[in-house]
Amino acid sequence: MARDVMNEERAERVRQAVRASYAARASGHAEGCCGEGGDGGGCCGHGAGHEAAAGQAAASSCCGSGGCGGAEDHQAGGCCCGGAASHAEQVGYSLVEISSVPEGAEMSFGCGNPAALAGLQPGETVLDLGSGGGLDCLLAAHRVGPTGRVIGVDMTPEMIDRARGNARQGNYANVEFRLGEIEHLPVADATVDAIISNCVINLSPDKPSVLREAFRVLKPGGRLLVSDIVSMAPLSEEARSDEGLWCECLSGAEEVGALERMLRDAGFVDVLITPQDESREFVRSWAPGASVVDLVVSAIVEAWKP
Ligand SMILES: C[S@@+](CC[C@H](N)C(=O)[O-])C[C@H]1O[C@@H](n2cnc3c(N)ncnc32)[C@H](O)[C@@H]1O
Repeated sequence: MARDVMNEERAERVRQAVRASYAARASGHAEGCCGEGGDGGGCCGHGAGHEAAAGQAAASSCCGSGGCGGAEDHQAGGCCCGGAASHAEQVGYSLVEISSVPEGAEMSFGCGNPAALAGLQPGETVLDLGSGGGLDCLLAAHRVGPTGRVIGVDMTPEMIDRARGNARQGNYANVEFRLGEIEHLPVADATVDAIISNCVINLSPDKPSVLREAFRVLKPGGRLLVSDIVSMAPLSEEARSDEGLWCECLSGAEEVGALERMLRDAGFVDVLITPQDESREFVRSWAPGASVVDLVVSAIVEAWKP
């Protein structure tokens, strides 16, 4: 088996685990330390799904044991439970951006802020791979304006419902969400100016297909600017086969060199992957104690279609 592509049976198992994990988060059933399982979903970002996937109680979640479930902590902002804004702020959203979207839309499971980095221009068409609750799409919509258009694609129906609800709440006329897999994009050839994505490609068991599809839908001269988790060293087979860690955006991380090669094989040029050292701290908090967290980091991945 080529290292890049996992056999189809295992790939399908991974896809199902990822979908179940994010369905639970979208529905607010895996919020972990944020308690209630209510609508504030996502302030913990990662963490909850690992436990959900492992069939454990979500109580400790990303805050570690004993966590910070109390109201004081929630308000103090001292850990990932420090309010819905904490995870989003940690990964790079400004308070202005967070407060610019409808309440509840600040839910982030990302590892960066790609819409801020993609140089989006009024009138452009933007595609978000794995759009989750829609935060990056809404922020992109502000940037491309009424003459532009944003399409979010996600394979988890509960996420699509949530994203559509957020867009409705904010009366966004230039955003739509499509249910689909990023390995088979429901998007026409050569119609997109910029592709963004936030912590999603690492979750795919078939990254070469994702990148070929991204290349297909971009217009000539179009660009890809994504935030994603990459690995700085080979991950053990044991880590790779841990579905809980995979759902946490950790053990599916591709090595930087391999990801560069996949991008070039798909046809991209001017490929640049920039690891973000400052991300190590928040990445560690997603699975405290797991050895894989020392080998992975959030990175900005840029590439162009000639
Ligand atoms: C880590 S979350 C990130 C969500 C969003 N980008 C954000 O920053 O909050 C991953 C999202 O990607 C979606 N996803 C994972 N693998 C996918 C795939 N192969 N095709 C489409 N969506 C996928 C999940 O359903 C989930 O909503």
